[in-house]
Amino acid sequence: MKALAVFSVKGGVGKTALAVNLAHAAATLSGRRTLLWDLDAQGAATWMLRLSPRAGAKARKGFSDGDIGSLIQTSDFPGLDVLAADRSLRHLEKQLADDDKSKRLKKILKSLEKDYDRIVLDCPPGLTELADQIFRAVDLLVVPMLPSPLSQRAFDQLTQHLARDHKGGPPICPVFTMADRRKALHRQTLESAPDQAVIPYAAAIEAMAVSRTPVLAAGRSTPAAKALRALWTQVERTLVKP
Ligand SMILES: Nc1ncnc2c1ncn2[C@@H]1O[C@H](COP(=O)(O)OP(=O)(O)O)[C@@H](O)[C@H]1O
Ligand SMILES: [Mg+2]
Repeated sequence: MKALAVFSVKGGVGKTALAVNLAHAAATLSGRRTLLWDLDAQGAATWMLRLSPRAGAKARKGFSDGDIGSLIQTSDFPGLDVLAADRSLRHLEKQLADDDKSKRLKKILKSLEKDYDRIVLDCPPGLTELADQIFRAVDLLVVPMLPSPLSQRAFDQLTQHLARDHKGGPPICPVFTMADRRKALHRQTLESAPDQAVIPYAAAIEAMAVSRTPVLAAGRSTPAAKALRALWTQVERTLVKP
């Protein structure tokens, strides 16, 4: 099993859109038994995959009693299961801060190892205690960023934090998101890092909030679908590297 987190210090940069599409790509393009774990109390990934938390479910409790498996649901998309977010996650930070186990998340992921080939974490923003647990637990960080100087700054903050507190942390795959080549600033930023993956600003991705369908399941061959397919291929190649 390999785990990847879609993470950024910033909000609104396309983490959830990427997490949902990459998890769906893992299941469909690579035939991986895939779990999308929605760690953001807002539950946007859960909602986009047409699910909601079960009545009375408390995802936060899974961090203390370790019985996270009972919270997993199957989705409409073959091979893709979901661990839904619920409101209890709002208090996860406090619980993790009071807890003395810095590798809780890593242990939980290990307990899911025989059931899944790929686990994709959709993360809330910020360099929090949960983020530190994520950095200790995953095999890859996919980091979306807008093609702008502020995003570069947030990315530098992340790499500095990983260097200081996590011996560099897991491998990082930075991704430009919502790229609009009509904008000079975007063009310049993209040209400054020509090898970095790019997801264009796309109506097909925006529409996910309405259709509640991953881009590749919507079945059209749009530039966004092409870019997501290429990104998944790159991610999968990194994950299988010995
Ligand atoms: N590539 C894209 N093109 C157009 N809109 C996008 C794209 N990626 C994300 N969005 C939209 O931008 C908003 C924020 O994206 P989201 O994935 O929720 O970000 P985050 O999880 O980082 O907060 C959402 O309305 C989403 O539909
Ligand atoms: Mg999100």
